[in-house]
Amino acid sequence: MALLQSPSFCFPLALFLSLLVNSSHCFNPKLLNISKVQSEGDWSPAGATWYGSPDGAGSDGGACGYKNGVEQAPFSSMVSAGGPSLFKSGKGCGACYQVKCTENAACSRNPMTVVITDECPGGPCVAESAHFDLSGTAFGAMASPGKADEIRNAGVLQIQYQSRVACNFPGVNVTFQIDSGSNPNYFASLIEYINGDGELGAVQLKQALDSDSWLPMQQSWGAVWKLDGAGQLRAPFSIKLTSLDSGKILVANNVIPVGWQPGQTYWSVVNYAV
Ligand SMILES: *[C@@H]1O[C@H](CO)[C@@H](O)[C@H](O)[C@H]1NC(C)=O
Ligand SMILES: *[C@@H]1O[C@H](CO)[C@@H](O)[C@H](O)[C@H]1NC(C)=O
Repeated sequence: MALLQSPSFCFPLALFLSLLVNSSHCFNPKLLNISKVQSEGDWSPAGATWYGSPDGAGSDGGACGYKNGVEQAPFSSMVSAGGPSLFKSGKGCGACYQVKCTENAACSRNPMTVVITDECPGGPCVAESAHFDLSGTAFGAMASPGKADEIRNAGVLQIQYQSRVACNFPGVNVTFQIDSGSNPNYFASLIEYINGDGELGAVQLKQALDSDSWLPMQQSWGAVWKLDGAGQLRAPFSIKLTSLDSGKILVANNVIPVGWQPGQTYWSVVNYAV
């Protein structure tokens, strides 16, 4: 009997102890890391409005200088004007963000990527720490199927956004659109479709027959960079990009050919790896 009693005594104690351990494991709030759950994916709140036509690309043109490129692939109207924290005086042009809306019944809650192509200089764009003034197309794309008009009618939303999303323009390489005011002594170019960071911290130009000397270009406005005061420039030009945050370098060798023309577009054969 003693042999039987011993396990029958021990068993409930073990069960009791295991329940005690399990219950404290299940209900002890110290073991639930709330901050970890909430910061998952690094989503931050932002304000959102929209501008332009309901199915449009915001404004044709805009403060980055992409002109009607905002409507065309790869931007395809999925674009946004940014308040100061996103536009960054033009350095933010070309950066990609994920946005999603969750607070309106018509929201799909699905994240989507937009590119900064314009500046939103006033009103809520300045009042909020982050504000997206989206194209009508992009704003409507945050809705569940068939509900785009419903959220466009709401007009203003609190959304979630994720910064430092790598831009990825499959099959598209960095492109240079020569400013129409360029001449042999003054070279300015819109630089677009930059994978990865999207934002540029520095741009340099190297002339033909000048194998070592990279001349710094200045940001002119938006995504347009210029080289002025370096005398008569000899093409072909190579252009070296340094991305703003990661400092990664990309060189487009001889991308601007001899006989280049103002207003022309030149496609490089390189882009950042993503
Ligand atoms: C909770 O998660 C955050 C973010 O991952 C971490 O910094 C913090 O140390 C964690 N806290 C505890 C108590 O584990
Ligand atoms: C684009 O760049 C990649 C390298 O980054 C290259 O392999 C590819 O051929 C280029 N595509 C075009 C159309 O130039």
